[in-house]
Amino acid sequence: MFVHESQLRHVLRPEHYYSEEHYRRELESVLLPGWHPVATMAELPREGGFVARTLLGRPLLLRRAGDGVHACLNACAHRRRDDDHLARVRSALCGELVFVCLAEEGPSLEEQLGPHFAYLAESFAPPWRQVWAWRADYQANWKVPLENGLESYHIPCLHARTFGDYPQERNVEHELHETWTSYTTTEMDRWVKNAVRRATRWLGLPSTGTYTHLHVFPNLTFVSMDTFRMAQPVWPTSATTSSTRVWVFAPFGPRRGVIPWLFAHGNALAVAGVARRVLHEDAPIFPDAQRGLEASVCRGVIGRREERLHVFQDYIARRCGADTADPAG
Ligand SMILES: [Fe+2]
Repeated sequence: MFVHESQLRHVLRPEHYYSEEHYRRELESVLLPGWHPVATMAELPREGGFVARTLLGRPLLLRRAGDGVHACLNACAHRRRDDDHLARVRSALCGELVFVCLAEEGPSLEEQLGPHFAYLAESFAPPWRQVWAWRADYQANWKVPLENGLESYHIPCLHARTFGDYPQERNVEHELHETWTSYTTTEMDRWVKNAVRRATRWLGLPSTGTYTHLHVFPNLTFVSMDTFRMAQPVWPTSATTSSTRVWVFAPFGPRRGVIPWLFAHGNALAVAGVARRVLHEDAPIFPDAQRGLEASVCRGVIGRREERLHVFQDYIARRCGADTADPAG
């Protein structure tokens, strides 16, 4: 069921999706102070191994050190690979996801992920294993792809071949909180439900028959079903462009044997394929949505099915001190 009885006001105005000034406020107020997943332990398999990343315009160097990762600003990596002499930044693990925070002080990763930390730590660690990773650049403000993932109106338009229609309200549960929202549904095609049930039985995993999309503000999203887990942050690269990384994990165990092995590998291929297809179905609409926002003179309204957007926009507006009043006249 949805939480609100009627439509809501679109809190942010169109310029909050392209204004340089508002973009700088978002960077300072909500993005730079936060924790961001930038890699996984599978991408740093060897002791001492490095990967380079760019986070919010800052070049980072991540180095595997035992069961953890050291992160530092990569300002002079061309001269030296000894990270003791580079500016260290905070890093922490949630399962096998490697998070980095560019702010020297502030909440811990566990505090940012709040009540979800333990579940996410379990979701991205054995018997779950990384089966697919992807990155993409979008010609749209970072909130456009995020907000697209927070509403189910677009399902029949963009995902007709993968999901069909959107679930009925009675089969949807929205949770709205100050720093996170979630969407849970049990409605899915019978053949999907049966395939998931069969796979979990052979793998020895619990079967809940649910699909959950979680948004931890400002920019982290996680999707889970019994047969896969997916983490997807979205970052701005300018006021009107953004980038994303995606990691998909699938279960390998706990049951052993030939049939569980076949189910685990078949499931891994299937979930990576579905994730790839869904992401490619969504992406083409983002530049058009951005063009629409840049041409728009009115902010519009938020329907009940998209009520998760309202909480997110309210969070952004309050933290960034955004002027959300309607322009005079
Ligand atoms: Fe979508």
